[in-house]
Amino acid sequence: MRTIDWDDEDNSVVLIDQTKLPKEFTVLEFKDVSAIAEAIKDLKVRGAPALGVVGGLGIALAAQTSNAKGPKDLIEDLERAAKILRDTRPTAVNLFWGIDRALNKAKTGRSVTQIKKIALDEAKKMADEDVQKCRDIGKHGAALLKDGDVVLTHCNAGKMACVDWGTALGIVRSAIKDSKRIKVIACETRPLNQGSRITTWELLQDRIPVTLITDSMIGHVIKTGEVDNVIVGADRIVEDAIFNKIGTYTLSVVAKKHGVPFYVAAPSSTFDFDKRASDIEIEERDPSELKYFGKEQIAPPEVKAYNPAFDATPMENVSAIITEYGVLYPPFEFEEILESWQRRKG
Ligand code: MRU
Repeated sequence: MRTIDWDDEDNSVVLIDQTKLPKEFTVLEFKDVSAIAEAIKDLKVRGAPALGVVGGLGIALAAQTSNAKGPKDLIEDLERAAKILRDTRPTAVNLFWGIDRALNKAKTGRSVTQIKKIALDEAKKMADEDVQKCRDIGKHGAALLKDGDVVLTHCNAGKMACVDWGTALGIVRSAIKDSKRIKVIACETRPLNQGSRITTWELLQDRIPVTLITDSMIGHVIKTGEVDNVIVGADRIVEDAIFNKIGTYTLSVVAKKHGVPFYVAAPSSTFDFDKRASDIEIEERDPSELKYFGKEQIAPPEVKAYNPAFDATPMENVSAIITEYGVLYPPFEFEEILESWQRRKG
């Protein structure tokens, strides 16, 4: 099943609850935009490309459930839904991209019926495109891997962070499809353990060899030569930095020090051409995520804790960025990248 989908029979958004993995495989159904917004905040759905698609599907859902009698009122309902969805998590630019794409397309409709259909068609198209983009990222990235390589990854940039296939893990999947023997090292990714809970689970589902390590073992495994490539995803790529799960920056420093390629795999929707690193808000999550492991208390409740969810990796630590359009190498000239993508799209 896809990580996120539209259910035509029930007119609803369905998604796999990522907070329950790996213990339970639960599919949630949403008929209300506010409930989707809560699911985003709680990380029931997470990962930048998945957030983009859920943003689009959220707008589509708001259109289907609106009681507006005229196009102007319906667009106002969609603007309200867009605000609810935008006010969830600030860092992954894909979320805003997905919301805006569905909303702007919906605005081209002239009647209520037309707007409802356009919004839904566009959101479904975004979901289909996400799968194809991941396949293309996989194809381009797989060419960088050799038979027998060990890939270290952080957080979850797999099918669970997208609609299917994945970005960083999509590259692993594509390389294996090309008959290369690839092994993965997954960092547990404290505090919410997307690596140990989700990455290992989805790789085991596909029988891809994976070894779990704690985040504090990164320096050791890279220094001792156990890693051939690091591949991570991204939540936002600006001219001077890659924003990704907290710990990615440290990983990039260690990889650079030991001459291990540090690759970033992300669709074009993760690029933010208008901003620089200093403009980006890094989501700060509830300190209780550090003091409790599930319901288990693991720190004095009164201790002060700091919980930024992402960090910024400077471009000088990045060996290549793998997108659906191909592999980008340093220096990453943003103006040129944007121009060449615009030319491609016509
Ligand atoms: O807080 P999360 O789990 O949403 O963070 C996700 C990540 O940092 C991923 O690495 C990123 O979104 C890329 S997913 C292809």
